[in-house]
Order: sequence, then C-alpha cells, then structure tokens
Amino acid sequence: MTFQNIPGTFDILPDAYDAGGAMVYGSAAWRHVEATVRDVMRRFGFQEIRTPVFEPTDLVARGVGGTTDIVQKEMFAFTKGSTDYVLRPEITAPVMRSYLQHHLAQRGGTQKLYYIGPCFRAERPQRGRFRQFHQFGTETLGTDDPRADAETIACMVAVYDAFGITGTRLRINTLGDAESRPRYREALRAHLAPHADQLSETSRRRLDTNPLRILDTKSPDEQTLLEDAPLLIDYVDDASRAHYETVKALLTSLDIDFVEDPRLVRGLDYYTQTAFELESDDLGAQSALAGGGRYDGLAEAVGSKQAVPAVGFAAGFERLFLALEAQQVALPDRPDPAAFLVALGEEAERWVFAAAHRLRKAGLAVGLDVRGRSLKAQMKEANRQNARTAVIVGKDELAAQAAQVKDMETGEQCSVPFDELAEALKRSEV
Ligand code: HAM
Repeated sequence: MTFQNIPGTFDILPDAYDAGGAMVYGSAAWRHVEATVRDVMRRFGFQEIRTPVFEPTDLVARGVGGTTDIVQKEMFAFTKGSTDYVLRPEITAPVMRSYLQHHLAQRGGTQKLYYIGPCFRAERPQRGRFRQFHQFGTETLGTDDPRADAETIACMVAVYDAFGITGTRLRINTLGDAESRPRYREALRAHLAPHADQLSETSRRRLDTNPLRILDTKSPDEQTLLEDAPLLIDYVDDASRAHYETVKALLTSLDIDFVEDPRLVRGLDYYTQTAFELESDDLGAQSALAGGGRYDGLAEAVGSKQAVPAVGFAAGFERLFLALEAQQVALPDRPDPAAFLVALGEEAERWVFAAAHRLRKAGLAVGLDVRGRSLKAQMKEANRQNARTAVIVGKDELAAQAAQVKDMETGEQCSVPFDELAEALKRSEV
C-alpha cells in the first residue's frame, strides 16, 4: 500500500509540476514570492509575528463567529484530554490572542504585525480553494485612525504591484459599528422572509443564522430577490460613515482605484466599519486574491476588558500563484550548483568526496555523484543539474594536483591547481 497526500493539500517540490490541471510551483519560486512579500512588509513597517498552527477552539469560535461557515462547517477540530483544539482557519484571531497575552499594547504605539503561514479549512477542494493553504497578511492593532485602514489596503495592493500583476479590482464597503449590523440583519431578514420558499436550502438556513451571507449568492433568482433589498449603508451610524469617507479620500490621494460595493459583507463575523476585497478575473470562481477590514470588537469578543481597535488583511499564496501563472510572470527555477565534481577511478572518487565537503564549507554549492558511475553518466548528471562547471579528476589530475575544469556552457576546459579550485569556482559562480 502506498499513501497519497490528503485531497485539498499539496506537496511543494524542487521543480514545478502539474497537479490535475493546476500548476504547483517549485520551492524556489515559493521562496522568491515569500521574499517579495516580506520586502513589501519591510517597506511598510510591519514586523513579523509567528503563532502556533493550532489554537483553542473557543478562541476561533468566539473570534471568527459561531454562525460563520468557517466555524460551523470548516474547522479541523480535535480533542486531547479535556481540551478542544482547531487547526487555525485564519490568523487574525490568533494574532489578537497573542497581542493580549503578551500585553503588546504596553510596548507603546500601535503594533504593526505581519505573518506568513499555513491555514486549514475543511472546504470542498477546487481551483484556488484548498484544505491547507498559505496566507500572508498584516494586522495593525491599537488604532482607530482611518489612515491605518488606508495603509493596510495600500500594503495589500503593493504586493500585487511588486509582481506586476494587473487587472485587479478593489471593492470596499463600510459595515458600520457593532450595532449597525444587527439592525441591518433584521431589515434584510424582514425583506427576504416573505420569499423564503424561493430561496435555496442553504440560503433558507442562512436566513435564520446569518442572513448577510445570502448577499454573496451566485444564484440569479436570489440575486433578483436582492435587487430591491435594503442597503447596509442606510443602517450605518454617522461616525462610521465619516470614517469611511476619510478612508476613500485617503485611497484616492494615493491613486489607488476602488469600487464601492454596498453588498460586500465578508465571511467572518468580527468586522466593523471598513471591509474590502481584492479580486482578479484570472482566478475563476474563487475570485478573491485577498480581503480584510477593521475589527474593533474582536478583542472584547475574545475576552479583553478593553477594546482594541484594529485593521488588517490576509491573502492566499495559492491564488497569488494563479494570477502569476495567468499573467505569465517569470519566477525562478531551482538554484543551479556552481560546480559538479566528476571522478574517474576509486582514488579520485575518495578525493572528490572530500573536496566537495571542503568546497561546500567554503560556501560553494557543489554536486557530485555518489553512485560510482561512468564518466558519461556523471557528465550527464552535471548537465541535468544545470551545473555551471564540471570539475573532472582522474589518475593524471591526482598526480598533477590540478583538476580539469570545464565550462558547461561554452565547453571550454582548463587545468586548475587543487589549491586554487575554491577561488576559481567562486569567480565563476557569479
Ligand atoms: P479570508 O477572506 O477568509 O479572510 O481569507 C483571506 C484570503 O485567504 C482569501 O482572499 C484567499 O486568498 C485566501 N483563502 C481563504 N480560504 C482559502 C482556501 N480554502 N484556499 C485557498 N485560499 C484561501 C481572512 O482570513 C481574514 N483573517 C483576513 C483579515 C485579516 N481580516 C483582518 N485581518
């Protein structure tokens, strides 16, 4: 019996491969994309935070919200002893936990944090939707200033700009304060209740639990029912409206294009005020590259006595890769070794094995054959690994204490004394 990875997860290999119609990029491409994200975070002044991949179930249930799809259907949960755990479905609630636990507020100023890491949701896998996926994102904690909202959005957009991705759409909305949403929820429910028999089973269930989610419906019939539904903005308090106007003005001042979408509510319960999503047509059904918003009530929802105003975004690496692939952005392949050491005969094999170690300790990436194969097979392997040079050592070279060094591109060959090898290879490495 052999094993397969769990559907909705994938292996990242040294080289890219096709996983049933979807390309999985190689690990060098992932490293490059992660490094680019980190560089954007550095420029925007975010510091990295890393939190565990599993958390108490209660934190996620209270943070993300008990009626959300994530908590009701998508948690990978397990129990050990008397404690319930979940694999984190997102990283905002864990960051808030950490902020409160370590009293980061006492370190003065606002905390600007970013993260990169895996998240887990038991969703039905499809293009752009996985059960283990990888997020990057930011959280700015301890300020209700609209500039933090605009800075968050600007940072999110800057990541896609850094890769030259075009054709994205930024949608924004305001959800108002903590009281606005329940007021609107009731108005929406009252509007839809008389038409409950025309709703799908899922939407009928949502009518009771979380009617705002019906706004996301893809069904044309339900969309028709929603056409004259009340709009959230009419239920939003004045202070939130003013906040929203400032965020929009700030985005305009930064030349960041956006469209207002009065139906954008997002799938997590903790949002207040600003909510936003970045979309791309390159992705298919799962069109969201990234999303986020303000969550001024989350700290109290997870037990803080004091409110912590905060705002953030998160984005999926897998969807970023879909956009990179669609727009044919070139990404690096696996790194090439500087040299491949080729040995002829047992004595040379022993010398080469030790020489590779010395060269590696001197900082060079060096390949060698450890199967005692023919010259031809070793040269083929040097080629396959894309080595820039082949260093060939046989009886004659041992006697002369100098290796034959062959440039794999030009075919030029010269003799290099053993004790000058490291320096010569370093020069050719650039
Ligand atoms: P979210 O919209 O649930 O928000 O997820 C953010 C991003 O993660 C999505 O836009 C998408 O790119 C990616 N994503 C989500 N689920 C999957 C999946 N099953 N497979 C692949 N990619 C996925 C949040 O998680 C919030 N914590 C964002 C936030 C941060 N709000 C405030 N701060």
